[in-house]
This record gives sequence, structure tokens and C-alpha cells, in this order.
Amino acid sequence: MSLFRTKTILHGDDRPVEHRMARTLGWPSLVAMGVGAIVGTGILTLIGVGADRAGPAVLLSFVVAGAICACAALCYAEMATMIPASGSAYTYSYAVLGEVFAWVVGWSLILEYSLVVSTVAVGWSGYAVGFLKGLGIIVPAALANGPALGGVINLPAILIIAVVAGLLMLGTRESARVNSALVVLKIVTLALFVFVALPHFDPANLQPFAPFGYGSTVGEGGAKYGVMGAAAIIFFAFYGFDAISTAAEEAKNPERDLAIGIVGSMIACTVIYLVVAAAAVGAIGFARFADSPEPLALILRELGQGQIATIVAAAAAIALPTVLLAFLYGQSRIFLVMARDGFLPRALAKVDSRGTPVRITAVTAIFVAIIAGLVPLDVIASLANAGTLCAFVAVAACVLVMRRRAPDARRPFRTPIAWIVAPIAILGCIYLFTSLQELTQYSFLIWNGIGLLIYFGFARTRTSKIA
Ligand code: ALA
Repeated sequence: MSLFRTKTILHGDDRPVEHRMARTLGWPSLVAMGVGAIVGTGILTLIGVGADRAGPAVLLSFVVAGAICACAALCYAEMATMIPASGSAYTYSYAVLGEVFAWVVGWSLILEYSLVVSTVAVGWSGYAVGFLKGLGIIVPAALANGPALGGVINLPAILIIAVVAGLLMLGTRESARVNSALVVLKIVTLALFVFVALPHFDPANLQPFAPFGYGSTVGEGGAKYGVMGAAAIIFFAFYGFDAISTAAEEAKNPERDLAIGIVGSMIACTVIYLVVAAAAVGAIGFARFADSPEPLALILRELGQGQIATIVAAAAAIALPTVLLAFLYGQSRIFLVMARDGFLPRALAKVDSRGTPVRITAVTAIFVAIIAGLVPLDVIASLANAGTLCAFVAVAACVLVMRRRAPDARRPFRTPIAWIVAPIAILGCIYLFTSLQELTQYSFLIWNGIGLLIYFGFARTRTSKIA
């Protein structure tokens, strides 16, 4: 059987009933799901790391990462509306590039989604433990940190994953409603930050603008400094719109709603980020909030707004689970589709009477909770970026291959100037990958090496049998 065998994708309504999911999501829910997945640890926490690596020029890092993500988002919108089936980049790669590419992309998506859920859960744990401390409730350090940080297990991170997984198992519609309410809270919180910080904007805080240069140079501990080094980290803040495409089989009107959901949420978040970043670097010198675990709250405190800082911190702890919700949702759907294809045990692909894949959601939650409970934050965050960059390259490549192979196929959404936009997405993502620190690059290659061993040793024989 050819490694480059492609798969004809069944649209959701052509599937056997036990594998069919309920169509409950309209475009407002999809935009909310996108914003819910995008706005999170990136703007709340990594803005500090970005400023540490690029100085005030982190503003440019946001522009670069946002522009590359916007090109990738346009490619996603074309593929998601052409192939409105669950599975995102994995499914498009299977239909267009062939089985072995689909495996690598699916395996990279498992890395991305798992590590984002784990990262955000650990970040949430930090806020929650601090918030409880403020109320006089002390969580012992051994139960709030994994072994690498001298603890035993990160219990709050595991608990929040259990809560979010429970919501998802109650059914998509209920989860989407909770999600929409928390998205509003998140936007109001960022607006509050801008409202308080922006009047303190002082151009002197932007000098020197790019103290570490505009490229990426290796610095302390192997980290990459400069505008591009920071862009490779800040990239984390922008993705999440891809999680919407995993909902294709549950969208009421996938062809229209998916395009609005993906492009709309991406544009909204880019605007929000630039305003928040400008307010942050203009308010105080970047060195004062660089590398803080809660940079936005710290800035507010430095401006003498302690109470508002507390409100922002509490709102962040309440709203961050929207990111968990979207990525855990996306992860369970990727697993579901890979299991349906025979890459993973097929018994996992069953959905219950409400159209929700309960088993796979539970398996996924346990998997990401173990990582969140044991592995430190910094190790997992940049690896998540590597997995995402791989998926983005594949989707942009799918757009170009399909434009060549089937120029007249029906495309409900056409990427504008695709022969410029898709190559920018591909080259931009490869460039950002080279701007990640070397340890991350090697870890990503090892992950995919292990994946290919599994593919040739196990998964490939199973997909051949069911073909
Ligand atoms: N974009 C998401 C975040 O910043 C992953 O948390």
C-alpha cells in the first residue's frame, strides 16, 4: 500500500449513525470558540517573555507572528470549507498529500493540542494558587508543582482539566454556551487593562526600541533573543483558530460559518493584541514586567492600581479555561478521526446518544492531565509551537496542491492571492521554527521520529487492513 495513498473524506452526514456528531454550532458560537481558544496564556503571560527577548520591539514580534498566522488562517478557511470534516490539518493532509504526511501532521497536532492544554492548565494553576493564597487558603507547594520544580504533582492543573473534560462530556451545545460567557469576560478584562494602562503611555518607555536586534540570536540558556526570536514564542498567542476547523462536523452551515469563524476570530484577536501590547510597553519600562508570571497584573500594580490588578488576575483565572475547552475539544476530535481511520484503536471512535465522543474525551483528558501534573511549563510551551508550525505548513501546502490538482473544484471560501499568501505562510512558519531554541527543534524531531516508528510498526498495517 502506498505511503502517499490519499483518502476520500466522508462528509459528516454520510457517516454511519454511531459515528455521526450533532450539528449544534452556528457562526457566533464558532467565532466565540475561536476567540476563546486564541486569547489566553499568550497575551496574559508570554507577552512578558516576549518583551524580555525583544524589548519594546515585541510590538513588531506581534505583527510578524500575527501576519504569518493570518496567512495560515486564510489557508485553513479554504481547506476547512472545501473539506468540512473533523480532523483539521490531519484530515486535509490525508485527502491531499497522502497517508504518511497525514500521520506526521496528526502526530504533530497531538503534540500541539496536548501541550497547549497542559501549558494553560499549569498557567491557570499558578493564578488559582495565588488567588487562593489571597483568600488565606494555602495549597502546599508539593501539590502545586511537578517533580521538576521540587513538588510531587500539580493537582490544581489536573483538577481544571477534569472540570473542562466534564463540561465537554455533557455535550457541545452546553459547553459552547459556557464558553461564550467566559469569552466576554476575557475581552472585558483586556479592555479594562487597556483602559487603565493606555493613559500612562509614555514614548520614553519605547527607548531603546530593539535592544536585542531585529533577528534572532542565541542568548542565555540557549534562548533566542531579538524580534524574530520573540516572534517564535509570541506565535503561541495567535493560534487557536485552527481548533474551529475541528468542529466542522458539528457546524450547522459549515461552508459559510467556518470561514466567518476562522477569519473573524483571527482578525479580532490581532487587533486586541496590538492594542494590549502597545498599552503594556508604553505604560512602564519593559524590563520591569519582562518574565513576570503575571505581567498585566504587575503593570497595573506598578501604576498604583492594585485592586484592578486583583480583578484582572481573578478574571484571568476564571476565563483561561476557555482555551482549555477549545484545545481539549480539538484534541478529542483529532483522536476521534485518527481512530476512525484505523491509526488508533477503533473502539475509541464511538459517540454516545447525544453525539459526543465521551470515551475519547476521557482518554485525552487523562493523557493531558498526566503531562500537566508532572512536566514544567517552559518545556511544554515552545514544543506546542513546533507542532503547530508543522500543521500550518501542511495546510498551506494542501491549498497550493489542490489549486494545481483541482483548479475548478468548488471552494466556498477562496484564499485571496493564494500563490502569495500560502507561500508566505509556509516560509514564515519554517522561519519561525528555525527561530525556536535548538532544544525545542530537536525534541520535535525526536517526537516525530517516535511517531514514524509507531506508524511503520503498527498504524500502517491497521490502515492497510481497513482500506
Ligand atoms: N493562543 C492560545 C493562548 O495564548 C494558545 O493561550
